[in-house]
Amino acid sequence: MSQQVQGVVSRAEGEPVEVSTVIVPDPGPGEAVVRIQTCGVCHTDMHYRDGGINDEYPFLLGHEAAGVVESVGDGVSNVRPGDFVVLNWRAVCGECRACRRGRLQYCFDTHNAEQRMTLEDGTELEPALGIGAFAEKTLVASGQCTKVDPSASPAAAGLLGCGIMAGIGAAVNTGGVGRGDSVAVIGCGGVGNAAVAGARLAGAARIIGVDLDPRKLEWARGFGATHTVDARSNDPVEAIRELTGGFGADVVIEAVGAPKTYEQAFYARDLAGTVVLVGVPTPDMRIELPLLDVFGRGGSLKSSWYGDCLPSRDFPMLTDLYTQGRLDLDGFVTEEIGIGDVEEAFARMERGDVLRSVVRL
Ligand SMILES: NC(=O)c1ccc[n+]([C@@H]2O[C@H](COP(=O)([O-])OP(=O)(O)OC[C@H]3O[C@@H](n4cnc5c(N)ncnc54)[C@H](O)[C@@H]3O)[C@@H](O)[C@H]2O)c1
Ligand SMILES: [Zn+2]
Ligand SMILES: [Zn+2]
Repeated sequence: MSQQVQGVVSRAEGEPVEVSTVIVPDPGPGEAVVRIQTCGVCHTDMHYRDGGINDEYPFLLGHEAAGVVESVGDGVSNVRPGDFVVLNWRAVCGECRACRRGRLQYCFDTHNAEQRMTLEDGTELEPALGIGAFAEKTLVASGQCTKVDPSASPAAAGLLGCGIMAGIGAAVNTGGVGRGDSVAVIGCGGVGNAAVAGARLAGAARIIGVDLDPRKLEWARGFGATHTVDARSNDPVEAIRELTGGFGADVVIEAVGAPKTYEQAFYARDLAGTVVLVGVPTPDMRIELPLLDVFGRGGSLKSSWYGDCLPSRDFPMLTDLYTQGRLDLDGFVTEEIGIGDVEEAFARMERGDVLRSVVRL
């Protein structure tokens, strides 16, 4: 048995995405079918459309989602039909070398569904990040479903599934921001502003948001930035040093993904401070730094994939902080849109008009 649903499919490089009929199989062993309520629009979806991830078209896009488990296959014990879940792309295997060393966030054998969803003609779909949630229903590995407090708004909680988790985790997990720290975040889009919110949660005393766009800086103040720097008219390194008593920040988070801003992050931190790269560079990008500065300034240079999160640990906790009013996830939801509006949402994202557009299904 299988069922037909509507989903957003990218058929070929550079072509606009379209709403198509998707065939969702019944869940097999270890799998779950989830009725999607909301799914945020992320840069990665657009990168799939543009051929920037791989060329295994057609893709079923969407991966920042919340919904309700509809059915589960044999042997599934972590979720049941009716559970409210946020989907994740880090269902750890528990058995690879990284997992055995207790570093589950580096698991290199994460689980996805074994069966494929298809188009009506049987063409297999490649789901974005193994999820594919711009669809009324999707098929995932049960480990990709993380149960969270069902009183949370799906549009807000679903954002924990990717970019917002990446930003919060870059500050809290990778950067290890602690009470009283000074933190600078370069690039205050959805991810950077989530890092701002994470730094506030962790008790940072000074949080400096840097961006080229004044709207982003206004958002950053809303999420907890104590100071903002307009990089169009100020040198971010100078400004961050000035705002930190001449020292530089304890933790600088780069949330753009570009050599210039990485270099700024490198020099805007205090001696022995930490740089966290959460922005994703393109393959052609290079940095050149005096090796003596890498040595002499000490500290650590880290990168953060998915905020070094463990979904089963972090999603329920962050959802609770949200329902208690201590983490503003609603602030990231700039607009709710329909399933046919993803292409326009990509355009708004490129213009910087939104933190997140969220598709309501
Ligand atoms: N590491 C991960 O796991 C992970 C997960 C999701 C997204 N990302 C990446 O994080 C990055 C940010 O994502 P986003 O959704 O927030 O994107 P975004 O486009 O909304 O945000 C980027 C921000 O950087 C600003 N910016 C650009 N150039 C700048 C400069 N020179 N100085 C200061 N600010 C500048 C832009 O104005 C914008 O506000 C992307 O590279 C994305 O691919 C990483
Ligand atoms: Zn593993
Ligand atoms: Zn994403």
